[in-house]
Amino acid sequence: MPREFIRVDWDENAKRIVCYLPLTKPTGRCRVKRNGQPVPVRQVHLQPNDALEWQIAYRDDTGKPVELGKMLQLAFQHGLLGMDDMRHLRSFVETQTRFCEEVFCVQSELTQEEFLGFKVWWRKHPILRREVDDVATIEIEVRHRQKAVGFQAMVFLLVPLRHCEPPNLIGRKANRNEHALWSPPTEVLKMLVQAFAIASKRHKDDIVELLRQISLP
Ligand code: ADE
Repeated sequence: MPREFIRVDWDENAKRIVCYLPLTKPTGRCRVKRNGQPVPVRQVHLQPNDALEWQIAYRDDTGKPVELGKMLQLAFQHGLLGMDDMRHLRSFVETQTRFCEEVFCVQSELTQEEFLGFKVWWRKHPILRREVDDVATIEIEVRHRQKAVGFQAMVFLLVPLRHCEPPNLIGRKANRNEHALWSPPTEVLKMLVQAFAIASKRHKDDIVELLRQISLP
C-alpha cells in the first residue's frame, strides 16, 4: 500500500512552514527513534532527544511537489528562499558528478562466532550523516536494491522532539493519532536538496527538474 505523504502547510500568522508529523504510525513515512531504535510511543514517556525519522519524499508519481518539494515551493513563494538561493542550489545540484549509490556498497563480514552450528556474518551498510546546526540530522543510507541488482541510497531526516510542538510532548506518552508540528529552518531545506543531489544520479536529475519547476519566472 502506498504510504501517505506528510502534510505540509503555510502558517500565515507565524509566516512559517509547518509539517504535521505523525507520532503513532510506525509503518508510515515517519517514526520515532531513540538511539537508532524505534520507540513504542504509546507506552513509554517521550524524551527530548528522541527523534522523528522521516523518509522524506519530494514529489508524487504525477510530478506534483510533496513534502520537501512542497516546503521548497512554499519557501520560495513566501520569500524564505530568494532567487539567489534557488540559483545557488541549482548550480550545486547540477555540478554533482559522484553519487553515494555508485561510490559505496554493502559489505559482508565473517566473524569468529558460531550459533548452533551456523557461522555468524555481519552485513555492513554505509550511513552518511550530517548535522544541521543542532536542529536536525540528515542521513543517506546505502542498501541493496529491493527486487533488483545494485545499490539504493535512501535519504532520511531526523528531527529531535525537543524542536517540535507542542512542548509538552516531552515527558509523557503520545496520544492516539497524535502529530508533532515542526517548522523547517531554511538551512535544513538546503541541506536536504544537497543530500538528494549526491545520493544518486536519478535523484539529482529529479531535483534539478523540481528546482526549475518551482523557480520558473
Ligand atoms: N524517493 C523519494 N524519497 C526518497 C527518499 N527519502 N529516499 C530515497 N528515495 C526516495
